[in-house]
Order: sequence, then structure tokens, then C-alpha cells
Amino acid sequence: MGRGTPVNSITTFLEQKLEVRKQSNAYRKLIINKGLIDFCSNDYLGFASSAELRNMISAKAHLTTPQPTGSTGSRLISGNNRIAEQLESDIAQFHSAENALLFNSGYDANIGLFSSLAQRGDTIITDELAHASIIDGARLSYATRFSFKHNDLENLEAKIKISKGNIYIAVESIYSMDGDEAPLQALVELAEQYGAALIVDEAHATGIYGQHGSGLISQYNLEKRVFARVITFGKALGCHGAAVVGPTLLTNYLINFARSFIYSTAAPSHSHLSVSTAYQLLQKEDFQSKIQKKIKFFKKEAATIADRFIPSNSPIQSFMVPGNNEAKQLALLLKEHRFDIRPILSPTVQDGKERLRICLHTFNSDQDIKHLLTLLIKSA
Ligand SMILES: Cc1ncc(COP(=O)(O)O)c(C=O)c1O
Repeated sequence: MGRGTPVNSITTFLEQKLEVRKQSNAYRKLIINKGLIDFCSNDYLGFASSAELRNMISAKAHLTTPQPTGSTGSRLISGNNRIAEQLESDIAQFHSAENALLFNSGYDANIGLFSSLAQRGDTIITDELAHASIIDGARLSYATRFSFKHNDLENLEAKIKISKGNIYIAVESIYSMDGDEAPLQALVELAEQYGAALIVDEAHATGIYGQHGSGLISQYNLEKRVFARVITFGKALGCHGAAVVGPTLLTNYLINFARSFIYSTAAPSHSHLSVSTAYQLLQKEDFQSKIQKKIKFFKKEAATIADRFIPSNSPIQSFMVPGNNEAKQLALLLKEHRFDIRPILSPTVQDGKERLRICLHTFNSDQDIKHLLTLLIKSA
């Protein structure tokens, strides 16, 4: 065996694991799809390729003193600057929170938040459909972990009753795979009844709901009744990164204890300037009505096959196609018609709950939506 070559048992292990993935039709590989019609990205408002946003960013960059390419370090060492602090202050105001703390991604935000908050003897209760980053953050803590049946308050209450220590409840306002909404008002009341801290991941609600896209918690005026929210910039805002918004006591705590914040180079200023410009663009137009119009149109046209979809009023419309092979085949057929729609396979979703996750965007034409649905109706 040469230097640097993995020992045989490791090679065998890797090969076997990949072979199992191939056998179950769940092998993942990176692809670049060019020239297809986007029904799969999280760029719900088209911000990522908006010429207007690009021009606004260039104009702002010209007015700002040239910034270093990299931030050069963690925010706690050399990576802090006025642009980052101003962005945090603007984000806090936009989302009606006391404070905000930037993270390099939503994944980092959830990891840092859950792993640092809950201590040994505490309990984290997550919706069974909570995003991998929430689960991984909870796993990294020493707290006891429970999950409750999706959106099931009775089941959640049963879990709360057997919880110890400080209790953290983690939900998403719009679920990333099903596109449905959490019963936020009832969750807030239940959390208050038991003195638990409710944490809401608004990754798929940011930009879509609430005034100018401030999220579902703002839409329902629940800002002061949730402990923290996670806002991400990589979806409707068309950028990259995330923020935890909540009380200053919490952001100060995270600066001191959240390892994904402390031990990672801060995002560069050009990234923060892009995010701050995307927030400005959000406030220029009523993008929320535009996306709602598309969702309504899609649902009207899909009425005859409505039972094949997971009920959702969000841009995420999941068309159920049980079986990895079946879901893959249908995605391939749609690709022949230039539609970029990705199959979501097990183990990402539960066995038997494989689907095509259709993401609607303000830029999808009514004609393309109709064509896509004609193909889905034929396949049903
Ligand atoms: C609900 C939810 N939270 C967090 C994340 C992670 O965010 P990011 O892509 O910024 O790491 C995602 C992304 O898929 C998500 O869907």
C-alpha cells in the first residue's frame, strides 16, 4: 500500500456504501443543467439572476470604498467591519427583532444555534420534517432529543410533558420538502404554556410572506413571542448566507458560544453588500403578490390531479411519485421537455414518500406551467 492510500478496509467500506446507494437508485452525483426551464431552484423571486439587482449591487459597489476580497478572519478576530454590523442592524429592523447575527449559511446558523443553546439535561424537540441542519445542530448538543409527528400539536405536547430542563422546540414556518405551513399561532401558545423556547426556521418564508417578505412570524405579529428565527439569504433573496434574529442576549450568547460563528472566516463584504441590496430590492416592489399569483395559477391548472400533491400554498409544490426509480424516470421524461425538476428520493425523504419537488418562481411563464401540468396529468 502506497503512502496516502486508504487502508483496504476503508476502501471496501466506501465502495460498499456507494454500491448500496446505487442498488437503491439513490446514488447522488453533481450535474450541470444548462438551458432548462427552472422549476427546481429556491430562487423564488428570480433575484439570483435579476439584472436590476445586479445593477443596484454594481452601483453600490462603486459608491463604497473598495473592499478586501476576503474578510481575512472570524468576526471575532479580523473579519468584523461596519458593513457586516450595518447589515445586522438593517436585518433586525426589517424582521422586527431586537438584534441579528450573521452566519455564513443557514446550515451554519442552525448548527451554531442548536448545538450551543441546549445543554446536557435540556431537551430539543424537532418536527419530524425539520431540516438536516436543525437535526445536526441538535445532535451536536448534549441535550436529549425528541421529534414529534409533523405539525401534530398533540404529539408535541406529549413530548413536552416528558421533557427535562430547558425545552427548545424547532420548526420551519414553511417546510422545505412539503411546502406546507407550521401552525405557528398554536405552536407559540403551546410553547408559552410550558415555558419552552420556540425557534422558527424561516428559510422558505423569507421574501415570500409578511410585509415586503419579512416572513410568516412577522405576518402573524408573533415576533415577540418566538425565541429566535433563522433567516437565510440563499433562497428568495438570491444571495448566500443567513442570520439568526432574536434578543440581543441571544446574539451575544451566540458570539460567545456558537462554534460555527466563532471558528469560521466571516463572509466577505461583497457578499454582505449583495445581501443588503437584495433587502432593498425586496422593499421596492410587491414581489409577494407576484409569487402568490403564480401559485394560485398553478393550483388552478393542477386541480384535476390535486390529490397527487402535498397540500401547500407556498412556491414548493410536491408531486408524489412513490419509488426512487419512478420519481427519477418521471424527472427524466420532463427533462426531455426542457423542464428542470429534481426527484427527491429516499433517504432524503421517507421511503414511499418520493416526489418531484416543483418550485414555482415569479419568472415561470403561465405557458410553461400549463405545459408542465399537461405532462404531469398525462403521467398520473
Ligand atoms: C429549512 C432550511 N433551513 C436551513 C437551510 C440551510 O440553508 P443554507 O442553504 O443557507 O445553508 C435550508 C436549505 O436547504 C433549509 O431548507
